[in-house]
Amino acid sequence: MTNRWQFPEYFKWGVSASSYQIEGTPMNGEVPASNWDKFCARPGTVRDGVSGRIACDHQRHFEEDLDLLESFGIEHYRLSISWPRILPDGRGAVNDQGIDFYDRLIDAALKRNIKPSVTCFHWDMPQVLESKGGWLSRETAEAFADFCGILGKRFGDRVQTWYTLNEPNVVWRFGHEHGHHAPGRKLRDGALYQVMHHMLLAHGLGLAALRATTPSFARIGIAENLYSYEPAQPSREDVNAAKETFHRMNRWFLDPLFHGHYPEEEWDQLEDAVPKVLPGDMDIISIPMSFFGLNHYSPMGVVSAAGGVRPFEDWHPRTDFGWPIRQESIYWTLRFFHEIYRPVSIEITENGCCFPDQIGADGEIHDNARIAFLAGALEAVSRAYQEGVPVTAYYLWSLMDNFEWAEGYTKRFGIIHVNWETLKRTPKASAHWYSSFILN
Ligand code: FCB
Repeated sequence: MTNRWQFPEYFKWGVSASSYQIEGTPMNGEVPASNWDKFCARPGTVRDGVSGRIACDHQRHFEEDLDLLESFGIEHYRLSISWPRILPDGRGAVNDQGIDFYDRLIDAALKRNIKPSVTCFHWDMPQVLESKGGWLSRETAEAFADFCGILGKRFGDRVQTWYTLNEPNVVWRFGHEHGHHAPGRKLRDGALYQVMHHMLLAHGLGLAALRATTPSFARIGIAENLYSYEPAQPSREDVNAAKETFHRMNRWFLDPLFHGHYPEEEWDQLEDAVPKVLPGDMDIISIPMSFFGLNHYSPMGVVSAAGGVRPFEDWHPRTDFGWPIRQESIYWTLRFFHEIYRPVSIEITENGCCFPDQIGADGEIHDNARIAFLAGALEAVSRAYQEGVPVTAYYLWSLMDNFEWAEGYTKRFGIIHVNWETLKRTPKASAHWYSSFILN
């Protein structure tokens, strides 16, 4: 038997957010500086035609936001640094105003005993790089390494934990295959796999640049969203079938990182459409990481040895995004990933849910559904830990309601409510729950 919520002393508890989703206020006035500004400006891309131009205006409200974190005893804040804010021209001149903003943000966090951990690419990139082909071009991977080197030099004295890319497989599928996210491309075959290769290469080059510019205490990894599957029954046959499906669906991105090669069977199936890979690329991509960051929201389906993969029924309880609510799915993902790839350490870099939270007549936000979701997810993480999975951190998505990409402002993931008219912040009941969970 495992204890319901048992975690080691060293376990890190935090919240996560990203630059484009909360900061607002682009620097270059009306000129689209980032790929997401450009994407949002295209009619029909984002719900209600909105953008991250104001978002939560965290750029001006960060002291207030950090005060709230401090008051809840949340000691880890996973933020991302906006690439266009630091290098508006893609390469070359560094924008001092951008550096200055993150200097102030990092120092303000540390002053409150909150340790910032930094994602270098959480989906916003300088539009100039996108115009030159974005991830289709090898130059973008090289430019990303420059950017990481700049961040390492400027902030490495104060930031201990770094993530190169956030969810390259989501950027790949949503941004480059289906076109629902920036840059809205609909690529096929060789071009699509070239994008994958350049993102993985960017991770490796970025990791090397961070290693070269940060002190030895720096921990560097990636944050990735893995396809997740559950066994229909806890029988050995169904568990093995679910594990096999998990492996098959994730190996395009995981084999290069952990084994230094693409999965052979899938690679052969591409025939003439294989991406261009230069000698040495795979060694760069597979440079050992200090940890792996897992973003987890919801499973894709239930697997049985006899019946294959079955999606969740329509009536299954879901979040406001329509994602099935499954408490144990994070356990299965952690377990399968650990058994197959043996990462040295796993941080949960994102986990959370969205509901149409409203302020009640009593002025409070009773987001009990989120509390139930968190209680279940943390129980599942604890189970994985107690069974030997080396999970070391949990970052809740998200610090506050924010710009949810193609869904605009319609999906509320925060433990702090944001009023989109006034930008007033109101902690939800889940913020108090998470706080007492951490502190007890
Ligand atoms: C993840 C993204 C994050 C947020 C959540 C809901 O895929 O990394 O920015 O949008 O989904």
